[in-house]
Order: sequence, then C-alpha cells, then structure tokens
Amino acid sequence: MTQRIANKVPEEKDSRLLFPRLAVLISGRGTNLQAIIDAVATRRLDATIAVVISDRVDAVGLQRARAAGIEAVHVSPRAHADRDAYDRAIVDVLAAHAVGLVCLAGYMRLVGRPLLDAFPERILNIHPSLLPSFRGLDAQRQALDHGVRITGATVHLVTSDLDDGPIVLQAAVPVLDDDTVDTLSSRILIEEHRIYPDAIARVLAGGWSIEGRRFVSSGPRS
Ligand code: GRF
Repeated sequence: MTQRIANKVPEEKDSRLLFPRLAVLISGRGTNLQAIIDAVATRRLDATIAVVISDRVDAVGLQRARAAGIEAVHVSPRAHADRDAYDRAIVDVLAAHAVGLVCLAGYMRLVGRPLLDAFPERILNIHPSLLPSFRGLDAQRQALDHGVRITGATVHLVTSDLDDGPIVLQAAVPVLDDDTVDTLSSRILIEEHRIYPDAIARVLAGGWSIEGRRFVSSGPRS
C-alpha cells in the first residue's frame, strides 16, 4: 500500500520539484501556516498549498486554511489502530492531492516510517530553538532555564529522530534579561515566519544535496 502511494509522489529531476504542491500538517493555531499562505499569495513562494491536514479537529489553522480557500482535512488519530495506520492515512490524503513536499508547522505528532518512506527528504519541520539545542517540547522554556544568551529558530528536514534532520535554515534570537517564555516565544515566532517560507523556497529550488548530516545548497544563503 505504501509503495503504491509512494509511486504517486511527483517525479523529480536534478532534485528540483517539478510540481511544487505543498501540504502543511498542523495541530494548533497555525501562524506558521499563515506565513506560508501569505508567502504563496504574495508570490514570495512559488508553490501551491494543496491541502492542510490536522490531527486535531479544533486546530485554528484549519480555519485559516479554509479562509484562504485551501482544502483543510482533519484526520483523527482515534480512528486508526496505531501510529503506522494513522501515518498511512495521512499518506493517502497526500497522494490524493499529488503533494510533493510536506511542511510540519506545529504538528504535535512523531512522524513514522510510512510517512518518511513515502516522502524521503521531502518533509520539513520548524522548531523554536537553534538545533541541536533544546529538542522536543517547550524549547523556549528550555532555553530560558538553561540560561543561554542566544536561541532562535530552525527549519530542518525530518528524519526518524526527533528534531534531528539536516538543517536548511536557522535564525538567531537574543535572550533578554527580562524575557519570559511568552516574550521570547513571540520574538522567535517572528523569525520562524520569516525563515520557513524561505526554507521551503530553497528546498523547492533544488540544487542541494545531503552530505553526511549537512544540507548543502549551491544557492545564496540568507
Ligand atoms: C512553533 O513555535 C513551531 O516552531 C513549533 O510549534 C509552534 C507552532 O506555532 N513547532 P503555530 O501553530 O505555527 O502558530
């Protein structure tokens, strides 16, 4: 089943996606989704958002997608026996929409083998820290608690290890003496919204390869 679906993923040449149809996977408010929607609308990002998928029916991001005229789908984890079955259901939706690149944006589930195998090096995630520091939940609180003076945001390719894939783009954010989790998160979020569309554009543009764990791009760096 997964193999059949994998074959439906658009073919590529020279690592450039010929068919830049995106899916955005969310679980919550969807401000990064909104940044991607806005970047597509203003042609800063030359792509189509084919579908938005949420594991939570009440995700505000589903409303953002529908307001932008984008198909928005809730896929309930409870309707599937286990994580692999859930991921296969996600792959079915992605295949039905001829998606070429998957963007996780506040998607609060681990990505399993069925999804990784159907989209090798074609799943991006955004994380609110300078990876590899502060993986997992509450990255902004982890940064504050650790006492770092600089944190930030990272867009990376997704692998089977949490918050660990090759890094496409990062942005640094200073930690201020009077920062709270909320104030720090707000400033990081501004950078997230800036770098996520740029990272997607960079991946779609092709001309990159993975060397070891490095994302090596021949294009300009920002
Ligand atoms: C962002 O901070 C993102 O880095 C993290 O989850 C948050 C999602 O926010 N993975 P939003 O739903 O995009 O507003």
